[in-house]
Amino acid sequence: MSEKIKAVIFDLDGVITDTSEYHYQAWKKLADEEGITFTRDDNNKLRGVSRSECLKILLNGKQVSTEQFQEMMDRKNRYYVELLKQMTSKNILSGAKELVLEIKRRGIKTAIASVSKNTRTVLQGTGIEDLFDVIVDGYSVKNTKPAPDIFLSAAKELGVKPEDCVVIEDAEAGIEAALAGNILPIGIGPEERVGKARFRFEKIGDITLTKLLEIMNF
Ligand code: BG6
Ligand code: MG
Repeated sequence: MSEKIKAVIFDLDGVITDTSEYHYQAWKKLADEEGITFTRDDNNKLRGVSRSECLKILLNGKQVSTEQFQEMMDRKNRYYVELLKQMTSKNILSGAKELVLEIKRRGIKTAIASVSKNTRTVLQGTGIEDLFDVIVDGYSVKNTKPAPDIFLSAAKELGVKPEDCVVIEDAEAGIEAALAGNILPIGIGPEERVGKARFRFEKIGDITLTKLLEIMNF
């Protein structure tokens, strides 16, 4: 691991914005319609995971046709996109924007790496599309988290070696993806979810530039 970190790669849902709650509400509506039990706890398993993987987890072995599977994915996305219409800058998690601005002022590059195909909509809706140097999303790579591809793609676009980056993530799949890509992961959330991360904070607002620089071994 290099001593001087040159870039911070942020996950989006649950790290920069509170949109993981909207993902939950959209899946919950679908689950209720399909008579499937689905709790907030179950939703934690869907964090960081692609839409199709989420549906497989939700169905929990229940057999459906290819057409039904596609229809359910589309329906969940419709509910999600509908919820995104009410989005404002209030959906940015407390302290997240300030942290990104501080990092940038320090001359460290920033990226968003989210497997969500709604990444652009979320960034536009919350008014922070121009905040990051690089944005990679669900359209940028084939293999989604826990594969490291999305973070490696972000590092490449930033022009920084993976080992010179850190990743900030709220999902187990995201922590695993960072580790697989030889990138230092910082977890946001409870031990049982992000315990594999090298460092952990309860919420993004708890991270300050000073703490980040200590972690980065400046
Ligand atoms: C991730 C979320 O950011 O994006 C997951 O944590 C979600 O819960 C995934 O399933 C894909 O999102 P979308 O918007 O493409 O369905
Ligand atoms: Mg997330």
